[in-house]
Amino acid sequence: MKKLFIVANWKSHKTEQDAKNWCNEVAKAISGMQHARIIICAPFTLLSPLKKYISENNLPFFLSAQNISSFPEGAHTGEINGMQIKEFAEYVLLGHSEQREVLHETDDDVFEKVERAKEAGLLVIFCVQSAEIAVPKHVEIVAFEPIHAIGTGDPESPDSADATAKKIKEGNVQYVLYGGSVSGDNVSSFTSMPFLDGVLVGSASLDAKEFIKIITHA
Ligand code: PGA
Repeated sequence: MKKLFIVANWKSHKTEQDAKNWCNEVAKAISGMQHARIIICAPFTLLSPLKKYISENNLPFFLSAQNISSFPEGAHTGEINGMQIKEFAEYVLLGHSEQREVLHETDDDVFEKVERAKEAGLLVIFCVQSAEIAVPKHVEIVAFEPIHAIGTGDPESPDSADATAKKIKEGNVQYVLYGGSVSGDNVSSFTSMPFLDGVLVGSASLDAKEFIKIITHA
């Protein structure tokens, strides 16, 4: 059985207590299951308390930031750099379409961020919206998230997502995940595809029960 990545992208949701309740409920329900690496992309403010909570309670989750600064440490008011994230998380999600489109992040910005992430020793989950988007060298995990599928309830077809994953892997990427309207009902149609190594889940990751369904059906 291949090792799967199931990534929860909480976006700008959850308070500390909500996050801890979610972790408890999900951990209890999936206790003993080992078929997937579960990564929580949490808002910055939750990374520190969650790291402590996960380690104190020995919970089966890895943490990811949802962004980092394109600058190293220095006089950059309001920015959070890769080294600061590395204290609390192992991964960082970069190039999400909500950053590219709404916050006007360019390819150059994302490439800079990947450099900062590598300097800090963070593993990058690099989002692309199509197979045509350039992926920086040495990025191991790419998440293919077509814009039409994000938050719409209208996922890409598994065959088409798999064909895109195959193309992306020709560029030496080790793992490709699919994201965009993944749910407990459709997750297995993606995770059963030969070139897909997991899913990146937005809305359906917020509710613990739905996320448990995603893990157990993956
Ligand atoms: P969605 O979001 O699952 O709500 O479509 C996915 C994402 O934006 O990462």
